[in-house]
Amino acid sequence: IARNFSSSSAVQSAIKNVTVIGGGLMGSGIAQVSAQAGQNVILVDLSSDVLAKSQKSIGNNLGRVAKKIYKDNPKEGEKFVSESMARIKTATDPVSASQGADLVVEAIVENMDIKHQLFKKLDAAAPNHTIFASNTSSLSINEIAAAVKRKDKFGGLHFFNPVPVMRLLEVVKGAETSTATYETMMAWGKGVGKTCITCKDTPGFVVNRLLVPYIAEAIRLFERGDASARDIDIAMKLGAGYPMGPLELADYVGLDTNKFILDGWHKKYPQETLFNPIPLLNKLVSEGKLGVKTGEGFYKYEKK
Ligand code: NAI
Repeated sequence: IARNFSSSSAVQSAIKNVTVIGGGLMGSGIAQVSAQAGQNVILVDLSSDVLAKSQKSIGNNLGRVAKKIYKDNPKEGEKFVSESMARIKTATDPVSASQGADLVVEAIVENMDIKHQLFKKLDAAAPNHTIFASNTSSLSINEIAAAVKRKDKFGGLHFFNPVPVMRLLEVVKGAETSTATYETMMAWGKGVGKTCITCKDTPGFVVNRLLVPYIAEAIRLFERGDASARDIDIAMKLGAGYPMGPLELADYVGLDTNKFILDGWHKKYPQETLFNPIPLLNKLVSEGKLGVKTGEGFYKYEKK
């Protein structure tokens, strides 16, 4: 098992140096799995306060991984944590942090203008060979790539939360992503321990294109009063074999995030009724009932 995590699974690809921009939930996880696989990482965020928090959470997560895979050898475990941590540097200036990068993975706020501003700056400054990738969940890779000249070296690397745990990576081929870029991204994804699937640049790629309308339909079913929340969730767990029910999953993801994605797609594809706004979802969000993180969504939770 240890091989999945230790540096012996070092990335067998052209990429040795990766810059991850955005040190939040996803960026921290991407930095962690890259460092675990032996990559030199620079993690970038707006302030050193945020970066200190990211480093702390990466350290805690690595500690948990070490406990699992080196449970009989705590010394090796400590070494694994300290060596992985030593591979992660932090910075607040994305431009200088990308100077030595073979790959830049962007995981900042889900906002097209802000992503454009970032990539425009990076495109002007990063070496010619540097590949750019976005971890966007709901925006178009081609539209993000419009900000750069190197469209052949731009693609999507869509990870899942929590990154160190979820085994899938969706590798998104934009309209102009070259075969070489695509192959490098696939090899890199495999190297950081993920199973990669390929998808064209379509809304939600594979997982969210299926999951978001599924959750939306579950909310509509509940809203109509056809079944209780608990019964909907039990039904899908015991009847379809899913580990979580759709409403539990919506609470876990965050109702604001569900609404944000649905609204974005509805605006862009008004003819697709699966993406229609849902009054109950809008009401819960406007009441601040966002799910697990606020203590209430479809269910009530102990506040963390
Ligand atoms: P987050 O809010 O936890 O982290 C975003 C980080 O980016 C924050 O720390 C923020 O300070 C930083 N940031 C914002 N603007 C920046 C800039 N211009 N330069 C540098 N840093 C900047 O968000 P999260 O959840 O990590 O999402 C990030 C991206 O990953 C989004 O594009 C989202 O769609 C995508 N994503 C999110 C998933 C999730 O389950 N949360 C799953 C897969 C993808």
